Amino acid sequence: MRREHPTAVARPLEQSSAGRAAAVAHPNIALIKYWGKRDERLVLPWTDSLSMTLDIFPTTTRVRLDPEAGHDEARLNGVPATGEARRRITAFLELVRDMAGLPQRAVVDTRNTVPTGAGLASSASGFAALAVAAAAAYGLDLDATALSRLARRGSGSASRSVFGGFALWHAGRDTGTATDTDLSSYAEPVPAADIAPALVIAVVDAGPKAVSSREAMRRTVDTSPLYQPWAASSKDDLADMRAALRRGDLEAVGEIAERNALGMHATMLAARPAVRYLSSATVTVLDSVLQLRRDGVPAYATMDAGPNVKVLCRRADAERVAEAVRSAVPESLVLIAGPGHGARLLNEGG
Ligand code: PMV
Repeated sequence: MRREHPTAVARPLEQSSAGRAAAVAHPNIALIKYWGKRDERLVLPWTDSLSMTLDIFPTTTRVRLDPEAGHDEARLNGVPATGEARRRITAFLELVRDMAGLPQRAVVDTRNTVPTGAGLASSASGFAALAVAAAAAYGLDLDATALSRLARRGSGSASRSVFGGFALWHAGRDTGTATDTDLSSYAEPVPAADIAPALVIAVVDAGPKAVSSREAMRRTVDTSPLYQPWAASSKDDLADMRAALRRGDLEAVGEIAERNALGMHATMLAARPAVRYLSSATVTVLDSVLQLRRDGVPAYATMDAGPNVKVLCRRADAERVAEAVRSAVPESLVLIAGPGHGARLLNEGG
């Protein structure tokens, strides 16, 4: 089912936010993974994905237009952004300037509380917050769907962090024109019964990843014989996941999420050369999750582009699950997250 979505409306700058805005967004963890782009420039995925937005690790981003500046300036946790991070932020601001029809450069200040680059989706909260703050600072009046599309251009998973709770990102359909295709790929909230979920997050390694998700996806799509079969089975996983969420079946949600994630990692292990994000500590946590299930506690693991493990369980079991994971990997940071809110503007009085 597709709905029509209004497109962006530009407001004159003086009527909007006087050229500055702040926004906050949270990371999300995919239960049905996004892995592989069919269009790198537009950030269009091969498959639909579905995630839960978290209530921890917020990113707060402030954007201020600077009519005097000849280039954009970005700070990440107080440190000037350089290299690839800077290039991605500037490219994103170019998109916003094109939409707004305004030439001014901007000063971006981002505060991340999630360990950057550790497979914990700092790019999701980062680009969701930047989309909301930059759109407002440049006087764009965008609805949540348009913000989701915009955030997608910064980082695919960011399209889902625009929404709270469970969100589904549509891969979109190829209609022949890039504009239509772009318009059809966005995230939206997913109907779900209240399953009172928690994600126990085991940060077994907070360092940056050796291979970027962008490069790893490209290599997997281009060389892995397991990629197409996984993408096909992910369609069934998504249908099963939506049904499990609707009927409030946490055990089914967890089983589907775990098999989808392990399948995604199998595609990477079969890439040439292989991409392996999972470490021995990851496997130790997976063993503890299996033991929890043997002991009658519904707990299911998912991993992203890094060795860290997120364990889906009932909120009521979260402390017990966290304890089991802590004793399996005593050196690791273990945190409990619940479902969080979507990205929003902060009212800082201009
Ligand atoms: O952070 P991105 O947009 O490059 O994508 C990362 C994709 C995974 O985190 C591995 C899976 C997902 O759907 O979030």
